[in-house]
Amino acid sequence: MNEQLLTRQSLKAFAESQRTTFEKELKTLVEIPSISADPTKDQDIQRCAQAAKSLFERYGGHAEILDTPGNPLIHGWFSKDFDKTITVYNHMDVQPANEPEWTAEPFEFTIEGDTYRGRGSTDDKGPALSAFFGAVAAHRAGVPINMHFLWELEEEIGSPNFEKGLKKHKDKLKTDAIVVSDTVWITRGKPSTPAGLRGLKGFRLTLETADHDLHSGVVGGAARNPISELITLVGQMVDGNTGRVLIPGFYDEVIPPSAEELEGWRVSGFTTETFMKDHQLKGIRTQNPVEILTSVWGMPTMEVHGVVGGYTGPGIKSSVAPRAEIKLSCRLVPAMDESTTMARIHAFVKSKNPDVVIHEEHGLAPFKGHVAGPYAQAIREAYQFAFGETCVFTREGGSIGAVKTMEDVLGSEVYFLGLSLPSHGYHAPNENYDWEQAGGGMAAFAHYFETVSKM
Ligand code: BES
Ligand code: MN
Ligand code: MN
Repeated sequence: MNEQLLTRQSLKAFAESQRTTFEKELKTLVEIPSISADPTKDQDIQRCAQAAKSLFERYGGHAEILDTPGNPLIHGWFSKDFDKTITVYNHMDVQPANEPEWTAEPFEFTIEGDTYRGRGSTDDKGPALSAFFGAVAAHRAGVPINMHFLWELEEEIGSPNFEKGLKKHKDKLKTDAIVVSDTVWITRGKPSTPAGLRGLKGFRLTLETADHDLHSGVVGGAARNPISELITLVGQMVDGNTGRVLIPGFYDEVIPPSAEELEGWRVSGFTTETFMKDHQLKGIRTQNPVEILTSVWGMPTMEVHGVVGGYTGPGIKSSVAPRAEIKLSCRLVPAMDESTTMARIHAFVKSKNPDVVIHEEHGLAPFKGHVAGPYAQAIREAYQFAFGETCVFTREGGSIGAVKTMEDVLGSEVYFLGLSLPSHGYHAPNENYDWEQAGGGMAAFAHYFETVSKM
């Protein structure tokens, strides 16, 4: 009765037998430039939804495209007949790919040995497809559980319509637990699953002090300079050298990582050297590995992303610009909330430079996850089974808007079975994925479905 339907051997054979098929399907998905940030790519977003639906139908599953006020959701499944349902979340939209460092066309899928390259290959089409093939294996073996998939097409713009879509179709999406596959390991060979995600709140500061460019010899000295004023203001908000945020009260709600968590991070296999190499960093604020992890996983930040204003052509144009803009965002940790943080920022900006206008972007809530219980245990077992390594519970510095929303709206807990590596280059030029993660990922998901079906 309790015998295992899927053995390591049979799953290894399944993965090998599906390798060229997997590569063909990933090529199809990667070659659709489903860039959610680009309004001219709407046709590609729709095409991607259709391709995803067809994928389910061609492998013995079913799918429907669910409407939202924005981009659609794809709901796929292999069965609805069993008692238990697991829903796997991924996103099918991707970041823009204008970086000059791409060595091949970003939306041309290339295979070099075990490496798959192209925008979206690791974030998040490759992991989505790995989980999908894991379900195909479990389905063919007759694992008695409903395997459902929810694929979003607006994750990379902060999931602005996800909550509305989820509420509208909530009855169809009832599930016992949710597994998100959109996170990164510590490094190759070191599986990790986050027990928390940071939230994100973007905002822009703008200042206008004149109508048009003026001669800096004629008015300079007396005229206000909006670029300088914004730079001064931002310098008062965040220390550019240390990253310390200087807004009063900014850190008040932060719960420092527990001694147990810190110990876990210390023995996680993370090293400063690999971190710098994986991300090709030329310099870093601290060499201490636990301090690095605390800064990325456990603390909020305020980051400057862009400065707009004035002359940016060759040489110098000696004018005073009439207006300027600085783009920023804060990463928030669990227990922080965006409205409290923004209220502090508004009060601070008003006190320092009342002419500056703050434009807020859509925010993503931070998330505190679950490390105990049978579903968390099944994640641990899946990694151990498929990759022969114990996974560590970490946190994640990035944000996924859908996570907190799914818990709130569907009332089911969210767990993470990510497959990406730091060296795959999320959002970077030459983004890639690889066969080791894909084949192992299929086995991990198949085993996870089987374990949960027996719970
Ligand atoms: N997959 C990432 C989230 C992520 C990042 C997980 C780093 C683990 C580590 C997701 O696709 C993403 O990039 N999120 C964005 C959201 C933003 C564009 C609204 C983020 O975190 O910046
Ligand atoms: Mn992602
Ligand atoms: Mn992303």
